[in-house]
Amino acid sequence: MTRHFLTLDSVGREGILANLTLAGQLKSMKGMARQAVEGGRLGLIFDKPSTRTRVSFEAAAWGLGMLPIALRPDELQIGRGETIADTARVLSRYLSAVAIRTFEQAKVEELARYATIPIVNALTDEHHPCQALADVMTIAEEFGGFDDVRVAFIGDGNNVCHSLIQAAGYLGFTLAVSTPQSYEPDPEIVAAARANCAINGGAIEIGHDVRAAVRGADAVYTDVWASMGQEKEREERALIFAGYRVDVDLMKLAAPRAIFLHCLPAHRGDEVTDEVMDGPQSRVWDEAENRWYTEQALLYQLITGRDTLT
Ligand code: CP
Ligand code: NVA
Repeated sequence: MTRHFLTLDSVGREGILANLTLAGQLKSMKGMARQAVEGGRLGLIFDKPSTRTRVSFEAAAWGLGMLPIALRPDELQIGRGETIADTARVLSRYLSAVAIRTFEQAKVEELARYATIPIVNALTDEHHPCQALADVMTIAEEFGGFDDVRVAFIGDGNNVCHSLIQAAGYLGFTLAVSTPQSYEPDPEIVAAARANCAINGGAIEIGHDVRAAVRGADAVYTDVWASMGQEKEREERALIFAGYRVDVDLMKLAAPRAIFLHCLPAHRGDEVTDEVMDGPQSRVWDEAENRWYTEQALLYQLITGRDTLT
């Protein structure tokens, strides 16, 4: 059966841990494993802008010996009415895998339903599982694992937050989410992650008190206040999220060993100050770099069905 990566549920605890081990190995090889998927072809469909995901996937594919083919929506016949199902059937005849960034999770799922090659979710409104792999790799590099790790997520409970919640459930760390009222994460995702925490350890805390979430945290994570597609809400959200800025004073409440994480792009001065972004606790550039190796490991796992380089 074709293996896809639609949310972290697609791979679960064992898949994530295998990804991290392989990503660490690829990092030590500077992403160069050109025999690994030699001759493979990766399609990249982006219905939204991207810097990190697009470039890291292209770099990852090239390092595996694959040809990356980036496609904008106006270059595809989908924009002129060809169905997603037919697009999936045709692309499956040319490519080894497709990574897609779009709005609705349902569109990624539909592509996966009709594709006979792995489909990778490169961000939807609901999930950003590729980001979560790099996030947990960065946390593991810092703390040596996930035992007794407490992460605070401050901001909007949408895609990045949802994937981090799923990661906490599978890896057993504690995630304290603090959002404004009405911007809480999806209760179904929270409930499923809590069920996984009951097995793997850790906990998911949901609240509105930023300081309570950050107190004692080992990592403080934030994301933009207005996500892609929400540009019209930017001014309204700036008022609603004003109390959810990560600044130096907030970071002082975190554990002495605390690091700062952000999926990027950052809107400096909104959700995070320059002092925190550029300060000694920031790991955002390592986190961005780790996108490359975790995605490279993921492509290898999905396409070859193996977790170790041969
Ligand atoms: N974090 C992330 O996905 O960045 P891009 O939007 O630049 O791909
Ligand atoms: N929540 C953000 C994440 C960007 C990587 C967005 O969807 O725009």
